[in-house]
Order: sequence, then structure tokens, then C-alpha cells
Amino acid sequence: YYGAVVNPVDHSTLRDMSACLLGVGEAGTIDWLEEHVEDSMVQEVMAKHGYVDVELVALRQEEFLVPGFIDTHTHAPQVPNMGSGQQYELLDWLEKITFPMESKFRDPEFAKRTYPSVVRRIIDSGTTTCCYFGTIHLEGTKTLADIVHAYGQRAFVGKCNMDSNCPDHYKEPTVETSIAATKDLISHISRLPDSLVYPILTPRFAISCSAPLLKGLGDVAAADPSLAIQTHISENPSEVAFTRSLFPQHTSYAHTYAESGLLRSNTILAHAVHLTEDEIELIHQSGAGISHCPTSNFHLKSGVAPIGRYLDRGIKVGLGTDVSGGYSPSMLSAIQNASIASKVIEMNFREKSSGPPSPTQFTDKQLSMETLLYLATLGGAAVCNLEKIVGSFAVGKSFDALLVNVGNEARNPGIWGSAGSALGSVRGHLEQFLWGGDDPQITLVCRDKSRVALISLKLSCLLQS
Ligand code: GUN
Ligand code: FE
Repeated sequence: YYGAVVNPVDHSTLRDMSACLLGVGEAGTIDWLEEHVEDSMVQEVMAKHGYVDVELVALRQEEFLVPGFIDTHTHAPQVPNMGSGQQYELLDWLEKITFPMESKFRDPEFAKRTYPSVVRRIIDSGTTTCCYFGTIHLEGTKTLADIVHAYGQRAFVGKCNMDSNCPDHYKEPTVETSIAATKDLISHISRLPDSLVYPILTPRFAISCSAPLLKGLGDVAAADPSLAIQTHISENPSEVAFTRSLFPQHTSYAHTYAESGLLRSNTILAHAVHLTEDEIELIHQSGAGISHCPTSNFHLKSGVAPIGRYLDRGIKVGLGTDVSGGYSPSMLSAIQNASIASKVIEMNFREKSSGPPSPTQFTDKQLSMETLLYLATLGGAAVCNLEKIVGSFAVGKSFDALLVNVGNEARNPGIWGSAGSALGSVRGHLEQFLWGGDDPQITLVCRDKSRVALISLKLSCLLQS
């Protein structure tokens, strides 16, 4: 690939490379990467790396490559509900909007009909790695894992554990059945051939799990330290109060997970809006990551998560769409709302404080484009403990990439593409994409050469449209 490339580096740095040559090997990993390559030198540089008779993909001026987005938290069975229920807060929304939809997946045929378009919609929006909550149903969630696998997406897929405080029609009957189905799904996913799908323990949240169920899941986790875990934490004030009343023996919401053996370096905690100082410290010590879901936090009026504080503390943070608490499956929406959330925090800080700005790097400050890109890619990879494999372009990493085109006149009036003169800098194009972009600008979602599923899927969508 030859052209403009945007690469996250760390929490406050990105590299915009206007003439980058990137060698992707047969196995789909990045063999080499060279910057500042002039047009006339391309063949020579390729030959130097032993790339002779290799296809060259030359990007147009209005195109750039960026690492695929990593959605660290979403609910596949809620995608059909996107946009519904904005009048409710979390606990009412679960009862009135969410559980009725999720319970439909008890019918395996409904799951088979619905999940293909769900996964496809998520891929089309540029998510190359996704952490999925399924439902409580074993068959339906196996179907979800099979479909994700067939489409060649990298993902974690988990079956929700729920035996308490949920309607009879949408509840697991006993701890034993819940644990047995969980183990069944784990072995199903582990047996998928040549797969990029990982199993993940998915206690929905403390409210929906009895203490024995949490303990049983903790035992499953203890037997396999590599098994990832995902759940919700401290999203909404009524949820926090209810959780504290259910588990008075623990000193906090986070302690309920910790005491059950569910808080560790491969745990993904969604939301984390209302954590106490003790909980922040406990999470930091555990090495768990936080999935910041700002679209959902605004939509369900849950609150504004103090992400800058977590970053200054050194906690791993990624972004999540949390569909359908969030109304969009696109990580662009998560990025935009994360930006607004951080601006709300900075404005509140300014209103309350008359002194100088905080001396810390991120606390009480607007998140920069560099930080937002990092959270959507490499930060998410770190939350999933996949930062050695995905999240940025580097030698040895998998080529999970988006090819973005900001030159579509119908969507970006005034940018005329190669023939025009209104093209800006690579950074300018990135900014335009992150705040003004949408799915049609992602012209290609590519994984690698051996797994062409994502590529052909996206191309088929383009052909149809
Ligand atoms: N807490 C427990 N379940 C859910 C869910 O499905 N969505 C959100 N946003 N929060 C939850
Ligand atoms: Fe959620």
C-alpha cells in the first residue's frame, strides 16, 4: 500500500505520514513500513524488501489508511433496537426496551435471520475488532459467534449470565445451567477452525447475577487466566444504589467483582461513570480496562465519565458504542461523543474553579484528536490485551485497516478529489473523517490477504449501492 497513513502512537501523539509504503505479507501481517517514499522510489524500495511482482495498491490523494476501529463494548442482540427508548434511564430501559428484544433470540431461527445483518452493519461502520455481548441463549450466541467467524471479523463473543432481578421469560433457571451453557459456548468458540473469535465471560452486571453465580464464574475464570471477562460497572446512580443494596457485604460495586474473582487484567468494564476513588484505585491495581461508552451515557442520561482522570491514573481505556444504549454502531459516533463528554467536563471545571487550569495532562480537560484516535484503536487494543496484534500499523502486527476516502463530493462538498485543488493535509482529512465522516467514506475494510471476507463484504456493499 502506498499513500497517506495515519497511525496512533500513544495517548497524545499520532503520526500522519503522507508518503508511506507499507508491505503486507501473505499471512496478512505487516512485513515492513517505510516513510517519506517518493513516487519514483516505490519500485526500488519494494525490491529492497524482496517485493517483486507484488500487487501495489496506490492510494489516491483524497484517501488515507487508518487502523480499524476497536469497539470494546456492544450488544449484538440490541442492534435491532437502535434508536428506541431514549426517554428511559438504564433500569427502566432494560425492562421495557431491552429484555423484550433480547428474549426473542430464544428462537434459534430468529438469531440466524437477524445476526448476519447485525454483524455486517458493524463491519460496514469500520469496526474490525468487536467485543460482543450476546443474550442468555446458548444456541443463539453460538450462531452469533459462527457468523462473526464466517465474516472474518476479530471479536470476543460472550453469553450473558443472568439469574436474578430479571423477568421470568428472560432469566437462566439455575446457577448450574448458566455455568454449563457458558462452558459449552467457550468450547464451541475454541473449536472454530482458524478463527479470530475469542470466548469471553459475560456476567451482565452484578444486579443480574446472584452471589453464587458470580462465584461460579469466578471459578471458571480462575481455571483459565487467559479467559477474558466483560461486564458493566457503575453506569447509573440507581443501578449503583441497587447493587450496593444487593451486596452490602462488599465495600463497593467494584469490590463485588473483585471479591468474586472477576476483576483482573483481562477484564473489560463498561461505563465506569460513577466510580469512587477507592474503586478507581482498585481497578488500577487490578490492571482491568475501562470501555468508555459516551453515546450511551448521554442517550440514557447516565452521566459523564471522567476519562481524563482514568488516563492520568494509568488505567487502560478504550471506546465502546454500547448499542442500543448507544444509538449508533459507529465508532465515529463514540469518538464524537467522547469529545463532547470531555468538553462538558472542561466547561464544568472552568465554571467551578477560579484558579489556574489543572496541572495534570488529561483530568478536567478536553480530549484531543490524538487521544480520541488512540482510544478508538490502540487504547481499545490494550483494553482487549491485543495491543501486540492490532490497534496500529507496525511490523509484525495484523493489517486490520480502513481505507478512508474524503473525496466523495456528494458527502464532502468542496473536496474534489485528485482533479481538484481543495485537498488539505492528512491531519485535516483525518479530522474531517472523525467529525464529519460516515460509513460511505470507508471504502474498504481490509483484514489481510488470507482472510478476504471483510474486504469482499465491503466491496459487495458498495457494488449493491
Ligand atoms: N447494564 C446491564 N445490562 C446493560 C445493557 O444491556 N446496556 C447497558 N448500557 N447497560 C447495562
Ligand atoms: Fe452495555
